[in-house]
Amino acid sequence: MKNETMDVIEKRASLRAFSNDPITKEEEDAIIHAAMRAPSAGNQMMYSMIIIRDQKKKELLAEACDHQPFIAKAPLMIVFVADHQRWFDYFQSRGVKEFCKAKDRLFEAPQESELMLAIEDAMIAAQNSVIAAQSMNIGSCYIGDILENGEYIKELLQLPQYTMPIGMVVYGHYPDGFPHLIRERFDRKFIVFEDVYHSLNETEQDEMFHDLEQKFQLDNPYGAENYAQQFYARKTGASFSKEMARSVRFWLKQWDGRLL
Ligand SMILES: Cc1cc2nc3c(=O)[nH]c(=O)nc-3n(C[C@H](O)[C@H](O)[C@H](O)COP(=O)(O)O)c2cc1C
Repeated sequence: MKNETMDVIEKRASLRAFSNDPITKEEEDAIIHAAMRAPSAGNQMMYSMIIIRDQKKKELLAEACDHQPFIAKAPLMIVFVADHQRWFDYFQSRGVKEFCKAKDRLFEAPQESELMLAIEDAMIAAQNSVIAAQSMNIGSCYIGDILENGEYIKELLQLPQYTMPIGMVVYGHYPDGFPHLIRERFDRKFIVFEDVYHSLNETEQDEMFHDLEQKFQLDNPYGAENYAQQFYARKTGASFSKEMARSVRFWLKQWDGRLL
């Protein structure tokens, strides 16, 4: 199937070096508008978008996000924050607690379930913004490392309790001669199932990881003997991932509304 939208989706690639062209006000407004048109659970819009204008703050964030200097060079940077604080404040200011007491209902502060829904809202909005940007030939890159250093990021962005910065996206124009390399994906048969989940057996694993395993080199800095060991050492089990795990626990603790 070919159409304009499929073309835009096909052409998107993560961009980590930007041309010097600024993102115009009109382009930025379109990106924000597209984000806000995303579906939202109960239309509650349980997210906030913090546009980082201050260059010093961009640099601090680039550093806090596992030292990725290219981030600070992006003409547009938005932190997508899962956010139930607005609704919780609204409930409090409109006497929902007292109402619950009078009606023998349990009043609770936001909990992990609300956080999950808010995360869905925030990331769907983020992806709408990414696709809208691509439709204007503006590239982007998600920065998952915003999940690290929770206490520091909370302070830097002055985030209240029932929030969590769940994704950061940086945007900029493609530089001249950008190769537009489209990264391969795993074959759909390993990802898409029908009716029930399917666990992969070893033969299927061999097939799924075949191409990646071909590129594996025994001479690697981790002393890994196969691709899985190397990937674990480089990503899943790396120190930045350990910090992410610690930091996410910090955020989760804040959303235990049963403590109210
Ligand atoms: C949740 C998420 C977090 C990511 N975090 C980073 C990051 O911190 N730094 C980075 O350079 N790329 C990051 N990426 C980009 C991925 O590396 C990229 O999407 C992936 O390699 C596939 O390449 P493609 O986007 O060009 O298709 C992230 C992507 C996602 C979806």
